[in-house]
Amino acid sequence: MTYRELGRTGWKVSGISFGAWAIGGAWGAVDDVESMAALRAAIDCGVNFIDTADVYGMGRSERLIAELKRERKEQIVVATKAGRRLSPHTADGYNEKNLGAFIDDSLRNLATDCLDLLQLHCPPTDVYYRPEVFGAMDRFVEAGKVRFYGVSVERVEEALKALEYPNVQTVQIIFNCFRQRPANLFFEHAKRNRVGILARVPLASGLLTGKLNRDSQFEADDHRNFNRHGEAFDVGETFAGVDFDDGLAAVEEIRKLLPSGIGMAQFALRWILMFDAVTCAIPGGKRPAQVAENCSAADLPAIPEETMHAVRRIYDERIKHHVHQKW
Ligand SMILES: NC(=O)c1ccc[n+]([C@@H]2O[C@H](COP(=O)([O-])OP(=O)(O)OC[C@H]3O[C@@H](n4cnc5c(N)ncnc54)[C@H](OP(=O)(O)O)[C@@H]3O)[C@@H](O)[C@H]2O)c1
Repeated sequence: MTYRELGRTGWKVSGISFGAWAIGGAWGAVDDVESMAALRAAIDCGVNFIDTADVYGMGRSERLIAELKRERKEQIVVATKAGRRLSPHTADGYNEKNLGAFIDDSLRNLATDCLDLLQLHCPPTDVYYRPEVFGAMDRFVEAGKVRFYGVSVERVEEALKALEYPNVQTVQIIFNCFRQRPANLFFEHAKRNRVGILARVPLASGLLTGKLNRDSQFEADDHRNFNRHGEAFDVGETFAGVDFDDGLAAVEEIRKLLPSGIGMAQFALRWILMFDAVTCAIPGGKRPAQVAENCSAADLPAIPEETMHAVRRIYDERIKHHVHQKW
C-alpha cells in the first residue's frame, strides 16, 4: 500500500481506500458476515480510510465500520456523509438543525463522540451558494462533533465553488477512465488549495473491472438495475453515467492496453493514482478477494505515458460525448 496526505488534515491515508456503500445496500443481496470479512481484508491490506454515509443501508454501513473499529487496533479514518436522508432533498434542508440531527445519528452508529470527516452528500448546487451552511459546519467543528469536513459533489463546477470555503478539507468526485473532466482544471485548483480529492466510483460500478458483458444481470435492488437511467438518483452514479453497451466496447479497447499479469480493475485503479492531485480512490467491494485485488493496484509500477495517452484517446472517441459536459 502507498499513502498520501489528505488535504491539510495531517492524516496520511491509503491510496486505495474502501468505499462502504455496497456493504450498506443498493447493490443486491448483502451479507454482514461477508461484509465484515471484506472490511477486515481491507485493513489487512493496509487500508486506513473508509468512506461511508448515514444513508447506506440507513446506518448499516456505519454500524459495520464501528464493529470493525472495535476489533482492530490500527488507526482507521472514517469519512461519513449527511444530507441524503432529507426528503424532499432540497437546499433548504441543509440547515444547522437537520445537519446536527444527522450528525448525532452518525455519532451513534459509528460509536464515537467525534466524526473524523463529515461530507455534505451531493447537495443541490444551490447549497454551495449558501455560506451559512459552511458556517454551520464550522460550528460543528468548534463544538467537537466533527474533526474536519468536506463535500461530495456531482459536478466539477460545484467542486470548484466548494474550494472557496477555506475549511473544506476534501472534495469527493467521480473520477475514473470514463470520467476524466475533473483532471482538466479542478485538480490543479484543489492541489493549490491543499484540498484532498477522493475519487469515487473508480470502477464505474464494475464496468471497469472488465467482468461485465451484455448478458450481465443485476438484482432488483441493485442500482445497476433500478437506476440504469437515473430513475432513483443521479444517473452519473450508475456506470459513471456511460451508456452500458458503449462502456463495454470501450472496456475492450482498454483491455488491449493491459500489461501482462495485470487485471482490468487493478489497471483502472492504478490509472487514477497516476494523478498526484488525487488523495485516494475509494473502490467499493463486498468480498475480501475483490478488496485484496483492488488494494494490490497501489503497488503496481507507474503506467507508461503512451498508455495514459491511449486511455485518453479511448475516452475522447468513445465516452466523452456521453459524460463530459454533463458533470
Ligand atoms: N454521492 C456520493 O457521495 C457517492 C456515490 C457513489 C459512490 N460513493 C462512494 O464511492 C465508493 C465507490 O463507488 P461505487 O461503490 O459506487 O462504485 P465502484 O467502486 O466503481 O464499483 C464497486 C463495485 O464493483 C464491483 N467490484 C469491486 N472490485 C471488484 C473487483 N476487483 N473485481 C470485480 N468486481 C469488483 C463490486 O460489485 P459487484 O461485485 O456486485 O459487481 C463493487 O461493489 C462507494 O462505495 C461510496 O463509498 C459516493
